[in-house]
Amino acid sequence: MAENFYQETVEAPKTAFDLSLRPPLFSEFQGQTRVRERLELMVQAAKKRGDVLEHVLLSGPPGLGKTTLAFILANSMGVNIRTTSGPMIEKAGDLAGILTTLERGDILFIDEIHRLQAAIEEYLYPAMEDFRLDIIIDQGPNARSVRLNLPKFTLIGATTRAGLISAPLRSRFGMTSRFDYYGIEDLSQIIRRSAGLIGVGIDQEGCDEIASRARGTPRVANNLLRWVRDYAQVKSSGYITKLVADKALEMLDIDRDGLDEMDKRILEALVVRFQGGPVGITSLAVSVGEDSATVEEVNEPYLIQEGFIKRTAQGRVAMPKAYEKLAIKIPLHRQGELF
Ligand SMILES: Nc1ncnc2c1ncn2[C@@H]1O[C@H](COP(=O)(O)OP(=O)(O)O)[C@@H](O)[C@H]1O
Ligand SMILES: [Mg+2]
Repeated sequence: MAENFYQETVEAPKTAFDLSLRPPLFSEFQGQTRVRERLELMVQAAKKRGDVLEHVLLSGPPGLGKTTLAFILANSMGVNIRTTSGPMIEKAGDLAGILTTLERGDILFIDEIHRLQAAIEEYLYPAMEDFRLDIIIDQGPNARSVRLNLPKFTLIGATTRAGLISAPLRSRFGMTSRFDYYGIEDLSQIIRRSAGLIGVGIDQEGCDEIASRARGTPRVANNLLRWVRDYAQVKSSGYITKLVADKALEMLDIDRDGLDEMDKRILEALVVRFQGGPVGITSLAVSVGEDSATVEEVNEPYLIQEGFIKRTAQGRVAMPKAYEKLAIKIPLHRQGELF
């Protein structure tokens, strides 16, 4: 149950529920202060000059608000936004088709931009830099290159894997911003706002309880809130308190640190099966039956940030907190390296 629930939080970001909770303005976007302030300033400056916004790259784990911010940027610039994603652009013609529909100042949002094919990336460089696209039409002896002039537009790229963005692509963004996991106070505010929007009563401690178990991620927070609301409506008065939230989340196997089934399986594999590591991400992923990109993009960053595991040149290593969580004693011969 917990696993499916979690999958859903990662793979179905565009449900109506999600969309309705997406803050439309900078002023409603909670947290990520540094990222938000920088982008807000860029918007103000561009507007003052009557200019088009520079290209922006947003990176960070799923569910932290990258897509939301792209929409907020479009909103505050008063421009159209076209969205697509790296894997969806298969041919140069696909890219040309999208780029030629843009008007001056419009935003092209490319999600999962690290999954763009190298050949497509090459076409993107002159489009980003000089707002032109040179495409080859026809084949064989008739093949010729045609130049399309594009309006000045803004590319917003989003990625969960900043490390996979090639240096030439990265260098063409005027601004690169990395999202961090949210603190409990910010998440608690987000939950309060969402509860208001979906019309469910919740007290401060209820918000805090859900926030502390949401893996630092607004999307998870909203999904947990929805679950706790359902629970509250069926099992109690419909009002969410700390006690109600706690019982509801327990039923989902989400523990006090917000770790879910998969997180716990990863820790267990690392500590027990691989004797604390170091172990490569691929072996680790295989042993828990999960795709290694998912482990690397979704589970691992949070487990690292919370100090359960460490990434070393040799592979992933279990930290004392991981042994603690599993109530397993750290083997004597490892204590020296870990403390
Ligand atoms: N800073 C924020 N304040 C309020 N809600 C947020 C914030 N960031 C994200 N959310 C909520 O979380 C959901 C997921 O955000 P999204 O932008 O889709 O994440 P990403 O694109 O990084 O995967 C959004 O629908 C929105 O409801
Ligand atoms: Mg997104």
